[in-house]
Amino acid sequence: MNDNGSDTRSPAERAQGSPRPDNPHVTGHEVSIDQGHVAGTGELVARFENPGLPPHRLRHADVDEKAAKRAEIQVTVLFVISIVGTIGFLVTYFVVPMNTFVWIPFFANLNLAHTLFGLFLAISLLGIGFGAVHWAKTLMPDAESVEERHPVVSSQEDRQGLVDTLSAGAGSSQITRRPALKIAGGTALGIFSLPLLMQVVGGLGGGNYHKATDQLRHTFWQKGMRLVTDPELRPIKATDVTLGSVFHVLPEGIDKNINQEPQPGQEFTHDEDLDLMQRKAKAAVLLMRLEPSTFVSDKARDWGYYGIVAYSKICTHAGCPVGLYEQQTHHLLCPCHQSTFDVTRDCLVIFGPAKRPLPQLKITVDQEGYLIADQPFDEPVGPSFWSRER
Ligand code: FES
Repeated sequence: MNDNGSDTRSPAERAQGSPRPDNPHVTGHEVSIDQGHVAGTGELVARFENPGLPPHRLRHADVDEKAAKRAEIQVTVLFVISIVGTIGFLVTYFVVPMNTFVWIPFFANLNLAHTLFGLFLAISLLGIGFGAVHWAKTLMPDAESVEERHPVVSSQEDRQGLVDTLSAGAGSSQITRRPALKIAGGTALGIFSLPLLMQVVGGLGGGNYHKATDQLRHTFWQKGMRLVTDPELRPIKATDVTLGSVFHVLPEGIDKNINQEPQPGQEFTHDEDLDLMQRKAKAAVLLMRLEPSTFVSDKARDWGYYGIVAYSKICTHAGCPVGLYEQQTHHLLCPCHQSTFDVTRDCLVIFGPAKRPLPQLKITVDQEGYLIADQPFDEPVGPSFWSRER
């Protein structure tokens, strides 16, 4: 210790824990820092010794070409399993009907296509994952390297060194020496994106596109179908509809299974329920009676029956049910974003974000005086969808 109180021992002396003679707490029995804690001073050595690396252990594949070959085959098999999974996904997409359900014992009643999609996608992903890990652990270079701490920003030299190391690693990954790995790994990774592509292209293009737009263009309404009340499904006579009244209406027969009459006691399946709800959601109509003289639009009057008019209940903005009818102004209001339609002007949009009028259902009466559809909707109901003319 010098006159101004600083420690004059060398770093080596401090590292060895030699006591400071003028420190009253030092007894001379302290343990060196490389053997344990130093009591009392709280000081650290200037530098810890590098403990070094454990001895390098060679893997089987490093010393035995047969083991390397075995590893190569195992990795190839894993990649091939991934390829099978991807192909299985694609085949499922084209072959398995989307509405088939299977009972998995002790589990649940599952949609077959969705179950197979998940299964094959898992096989595809796990095949690639396990293959890559096994390849890295058995065949890729296995050498320890040590790098001293250095400033965070690498020098240009170091960066170039990294590029060289990566290039050398790519070269020594044996991909050039082992063509089976190259082909299997490349194919597995190459076709892995196909399921996603299939969803995008298959879902929006080709037959599915026309099927989807066809479903959106048409409702359950057909010429001659009676208008029935929702939810009682009771046919409506023209004389039932008084001035200022409004009815929520569906087409007669909408509750029936399209392909098959339900038998007594038979319950709809989940899919049939869903189908029924979708049909109802598209075919819902509002029926009102106005003084014929209040109509500004000729079409609105001519497509009705003595002032009784029917309009789609599905808002042309985002598909909410247009639920509010204002008798005095003859306005229909959608509660979702306040689009307002003027019934006297063929349900023209007079306020709100909707861009087109509500489609009108042309109606008349049958011989018994019940209101019927004179034709299906002549345009799609609900919000606009892709490539639609109107
Ligand atoms: S859904 Fe009707 S206004 Fe938005």
